[in-house]
Amino acid sequence: MVCLGNICRSPVAEGVLRSKIEKLNLPVEVDSAGTSNYHIGECPDRRSILSAHRNGIDISGFRARQFTVTDFDAFDLILSMDMRNLENILKLARNENDIRKVQLLLEYSHPGKKLNVPDPYFGGEEGFNTVFSLINNACDKLVENIKNQLQAS
Ligand code: 4NP
Repeated sequence: MVCLGNICRSPVAEGVLRSKIEKLNLPVEVDSAGTSNYHIGECPDRRSILSAHRNGIDISGFRARQFTVTDFDAFDLILSMDMRNLENILKLARNENDIRKVQLLLEYSHPGKKLNVPDPYFGGEEGFNTVFSLINNACDKLVENIKNQLQAS
């Protein structure tokens, strides 16, 4: 899960997906990162911690890191919160295989719409509720998709 700072959106996405994966006991590794180096080592934004906590998910122990080219080797799927970060991830792609791994998270809930999870950093509390709800709905679809792929393999 990738956003800009790895303190607002992608930690929520990591926590939500991790929780759904663990509930179903699926053999899937989940992580998150930011395309920028702005907040490396920091814990998630207080408002993200609160919105996850209200939904029974603890992300307070997460620490921000920057997306690196080695993430293309470590992960099968690289899900961006928005188009700007997707473009910056693609700038690091080395080949077609890397490119194929990169998608917008909201493609799972809103296929073909090219919808972004809006950046809530400079807004109020309400933006973080919107972020949680968009991410949660997309992750429901994503987990179904992963489950079907694992069953087929
Ligand atoms: P995120 O939100 O990409 O969802 O973690 C942001 C966090 C920090 C900044 C922008 C967006 N910033 O400009 O520092």
